[in-house]
Amino acid sequence: MLDWTEPKSDVEPARPDKFAGNATGLGEIERGGARVSVDDKRMINARADVNQLLPLKYRWAWEKYLAACNNHWMPTEVSMQADIALWKSRDGLTEDERRMLKRNLGFFAASESLVANNIVLAIYRHLTNPECRQYLLRQAFEEAIHTHTFQYIVESLGLDEGELFNMYREVPSITDKAAWALRHTQNLDDPDFRTGTPEADQAFLRDLVAFYVIFEGMWFYTGFAQILSLGRRNKMVGIAEQYQYILRDESIHLNFGIDVINQIRIENPHLWTQTFQDEVREMITEAAELEAAYGRDTMPRGFLGLNAALCEQYMHFIANRRCAQLGLQPVFADVENPFPWMSEAMDLKKEKNFFETRVIEYQSGGALSWD
Ligand SMILES: [Fe+2]
Ligand SMILES: [Fe+2]
Repeated sequence: MLDWTEPKSDVEPARPDKFAGNATGLGEIERGGARVSVDDKRMINARADVNQLLPLKYRWAWEKYLAACNNHWMPTEVSMQADIALWKSRDGLTEDERRMLKRNLGFFAASESLVANNIVLAIYRHLTNPECRQYLLRQAFEEAIHTHTFQYIVESLGLDEGELFNMYREVPSITDKAAWALRHTQNLDDPDFRTGTPEADQAFLRDLVAFYVIFEGMWFYTGFAQILSLGRRNKMVGIAEQYQYILRDESIHLNFGIDVINQIRIENPHLWTQTFQDEVREMITEAAELEAAYGRDTMPRGFLGLNAALCEQYMHFIANRRCAQLGLQPVFADVENPFPWMSEAMDLKKEKNFFETRVIEYQSGGALSWD
């Protein structure tokens, strides 16, 4: 059971001022406290009341919140008829495609929950800025919608729910990734964990890297490539459409995470030491290796347009991009993107155009009319 109350200790924690001890927003209300000054707002170790959204300091966070709200969708609005027919037909999919599809769904089904847990149980408490928290609340709901997608797929195709949702504990290449990321959540979930020292603040940064840059920003992208490559061949088009919506959400999650990390870097340059940068690059390298193992496991023989070697190359390309987004030196030799069609989807910042027809339809269709 989590205890989110303030620590009961005889030792006063070292804090820059009286407010910082209330960084969660759960402390006593300061009666008659002064109004918030924008200059006091910080990403971590805040000195300003975290319960007041305005005045805004980080407009990028607020804009991502608005963009996310504009992208609202529900998995149940996507027709699964063609997928059901294909899945039930004898020769609609090869055995290799079925294996990849099931393991891909199994990876995502549990991963969405791991990401959601990390937001709620590790990040939210320590990210002491209300506009960032506003985005986190929206992101948490989106992760719930993504988990809902896998429930809907299981139900539509009549898949074995235990096989799919328990896969992260049964298939080693998936377990390895989940366990690698989970240790960062576990570290921050410790009730005694507090930011405010360089060591603790770096631990918080590590968690952000593990989840935003690696889990959502690297591992999810091979998963998207696998399913969208089926969709491009007109197979499992309903799932492919759902993955396009998830990808659109995740590209904002990733970019939010990058902005958060970079903003923390700007405000706390002492955390971004050469040693720490090397460590982050090492994390990214290790994550690419875990992903290569997952690629070999899900696609032992490969199929039209997709195989483990191409996915590994794609991961190297993505890993270098993530390094560049964080201002780090690349971790792999310069590689070409083997899936330029994925790049059109989001790397070239065309995400708003990629789903253009549907997005416009959706937004007007989703707007309330009081006439
Ligand atoms: Fe998600
Ligand atoms: Fe996400």
